[in-house]
Amino acid sequence: MPSRSIILAIACALTVTACAPDDREARRRAAGPTPSVAALSRVASAAAGARLFTRCSACHSVGRGAPDFGGPNLFGVMGSEVAQNSQRFAYTAALQKVGGRWTPERMDAWLADPQRFAPGTAMGFAGLADPLDRADVIAYLQTKR
Ligand code: HEC
Repeated sequence: MPSRSIILAIACALTVTACAPDDREARRRAAGPTPSVAALSRVASAAAGARLFTRCSACHSVGRGAPDFGGPNLFGVMGSEVAQNSQRFAYTAALQKVGGRWTPERMDAWLADPQRFAPGTAMGFAGLADPLDRADVIAYLQTKR
């Protein structure tokens, strides 16, 4: 008989949006071993990302038209050009020279290790070590557009 956790993982994969926060380990298993950013996005929870965003909110607002704090406003950042999401914010040259747009893969790399992604960036944040945390935050940012 399949274990409860396997049933949970399957149920979770089928109804990702219905996943409660405590389904975290089931979501992780549903994404498979060494999952890609795309695989993690399929089990990501915007609600969990909203809770994780408290680690960002000292520096970032996320509401439409909200002011910049220590960092730029992040409304609409997914898909926007890197270092251009807030017209008012004085981005570093380090982040400006990255170029291109914020894809899920690039956002994952940035949130894993900002200094590695853009050496010299002013984002004073050590990074989110857990790939599922990053996927959840990206899912949350995707709702803010
Ligand atoms: C201590 C303050 C601080 C914290 C905490 C922080 N950031 Fe930042 N963030 C910044 C600053 C400052 C910049 C601008 C960096 C630069 O110009 O080099 C930035 C830039 C960004 C950008 C680029 C925006 C654009 O317009 O391209 C994103 C995306 C971002 N942060 C997401 C996050 C997320 C998500 C978190 C939480 C997991 C987070 N940050 C935590 C300060 C912070």
